[in-house]
Amino acid sequence: MSKMNRLTCCALLVCATASAELPDRGADRHMGVATCAASQCHGSAAPRESSGVMQNEYVTWTRDDPHSKAYATLAGDASRAIAARLEIGSATTAKICLDCHADNVSADRRGEKFQLSDGVGCEACHGGAENWLSTHYNTPAVDHAANLAAGLYPTEKPAERAKLCLSCHLGTADKFATHRIMAAGHPRLSFELDTFTELWRTAGRQPHYRVDADYAARKDRHSHSYVWAVGIMAEARARLGLVLHGAFDSGAMFPELGLYDCHACHRSMKSVRWRALPRHGNAGPGLPYLNDGALVMSMALARLVDPKLAANFQERLAELHAAGSRDVDSIRTAAARLLESLDALDRQLGPATLARREPQLLRELLATGAEGNYIDYVSAEQAFMAVQMLVFEIGDAPMKAQLDTLGDALTDDERYSPARFKALLAQLAE
Ligand code: HEC
Ligand code: HEC
Ligand code: HEC
Ligand code: HEC
Repeated sequence: MSKMNRLTCCALLVCATASAELPDRGADRHMGVATCAASQCHGSAAPRESSGVMQNEYVTWTRDDPHSKAYATLAGDASRAIAARLEIGSATTAKICLDCHADNVSADRRGEKFQLSDGVGCEACHGGAENWLSTHYNTPAVDHAANLAAGLYPTEKPAERAKLCLSCHLGTADKFATHRIMAAGHPRLSFELDTFTELWRTAGRQPHYRVDADYAARKDRHSHSYVWAVGIMAEARARLGLVLHGAFDSGAMFPELGLYDCHACHRSMKSVRWRALPRHGNAGPGLPYLNDGALVMSMALARLVDPKLAANFQERLAELHAAGSRDVDSIRTAAARLLESLDALDRQLGPATLARREPQLLRELLATGAEGNYIDYVSAEQAFMAVQMLVFEIGDAPMKAQLDTLGDALTDDERYSPARFKALLAQLAE
């Protein structure tokens, strides 16, 4: 049924623009990691040169990818403590935990070899394999587009990938790591698409795919800066979406605090940090502010793409923050208006927009910081990930040498000093 719908949709030529259904939605059965792990499929001990893909994806996922441990995490001490405080029984059976720490599709969508204990397995990202399992290795006889039409999730497309990763690394209207969960001991979540895609490459880990000539023949390859820009806008959009349609209005005295800047409330009272900033409008001191890290990055991006739009963006962001002193309806109205500006920016951004303009983008990010915008930790954290990505893209050795010190300034989030971070960014700009 769902396969038919997708094929019809492609026949009408709307697939290129329509966004794919997330792997945990829809009707396709998930066949289980063991289905992918045969040695002649994706379970080879070492990478193979004879085929387009590495074929040792299963081994890499098991050894290097934290997603393979996501279910085991739920059986650990930290999860036990969280579950006890929330009084939800065992975290290994609680739906709210499994929805992000495993491929928790409904029982009728689990194939014979499916095991919940596989954690975030292949099909949690690549989509239920029911309708493409038997054909997807027939390339080139069966091409990538046909696999996608049969339910393979387009992980290679930055916007689709962002939506996928953010569904767990930020949450959705259906699954969200609320402030209640955080206060029971869950780590604070933060995400940036390019950095997190690259994290598979750090600390002795390796990614389970190679972006080489063969890959480029089958799929588009994108610059890091483009992946970053798409990811930032996707997060900004998703956060505003959660304010409009998600967990935000919990009906309780406080809105969902998980969508706010955590450090607005959780930091030392010994120093008074607040200063009037254009993007805060007339909101004034003493308000908790929504987490707008991705929105501040979008604003810096807008400065590069269309300065007029950037000014409009900043105005509407100020309206959103100022609405925080009124009521939920005002916040939602302002969020909807800001979403329109984001759409306008989205329409102007294509894969070529940033080509060879990384140095300018870096300048805009540094200028945004020089104006004091990284006063809060979440903006600084996003700025650091963006600056790091750009410095590597540009390949500037003296700047690279300063990145460690810049990162060190963010190690302790509760003692973050905006003044120090600003000074370090100014050095980078010299
Ligand atoms: C089904 C939910 C889910 C999806 C989809 C998902 N993740 Fe994760 N991710 C997790 C969970 C849960 C963890 C923590 C695993 C653990 O330690 O138990 C995690 C951990 C990570 C880590 C390790 C973070 C660290 O601090 O070392 C990276 C990197 C990561 N994910 C990147 C991604 C990227 C990139 C995508 C999209 C391509 C993605 N994730 C999609 C749930 C998900
Ligand atoms: C919206 C998705 C989401 C929900 C809901 C969620 N988690 Fe997580 N959890 C994550 C992600 C993503 C990470 C990895 C964060 C990172 O490193 O960036 C994580 C990390 C963790 C960690 C730390 C793992 C480590 O290696 O340090 C624990 C423990 C944990 N989660 C337990 C739970 C428990 C217990 C529940 C249920 C009460 C739960 N989580 C619900 C997404 C979620
Ligand atoms: C957290 C999400 C995630 C999980 C889990 C995951 N993948 Fe991937 N996979 C990706 C991303 C992102 C890419 C790179 C983008 C692309 O080309 O689709 C990728 C790429 C691949 C490729 C290379 C595609 C090519 O065209 O060269 C293969 C093959 C693959 N994955 C198989 C697997 C298998 C098998 C598993 C389980 C053992 C798995 N993946 C688990 C996200 C994931
Ligand atoms: C509007 C203010 C506010 C915001 C924003 C906020 N919190 Fe809280 N948080 C509180 C209050 C109030 C408590 C209860 C304090 C207590 O129990 O002493 C709390 C408790 C906690 C606790 C448990 C502390 C303890 O000692 O029991 C943690 C952890 C926590 N929050 C994390 C977060 C994270 C992560 C975020 C951001 C996603 C966040 N908070 C956003 C106000 C806030």
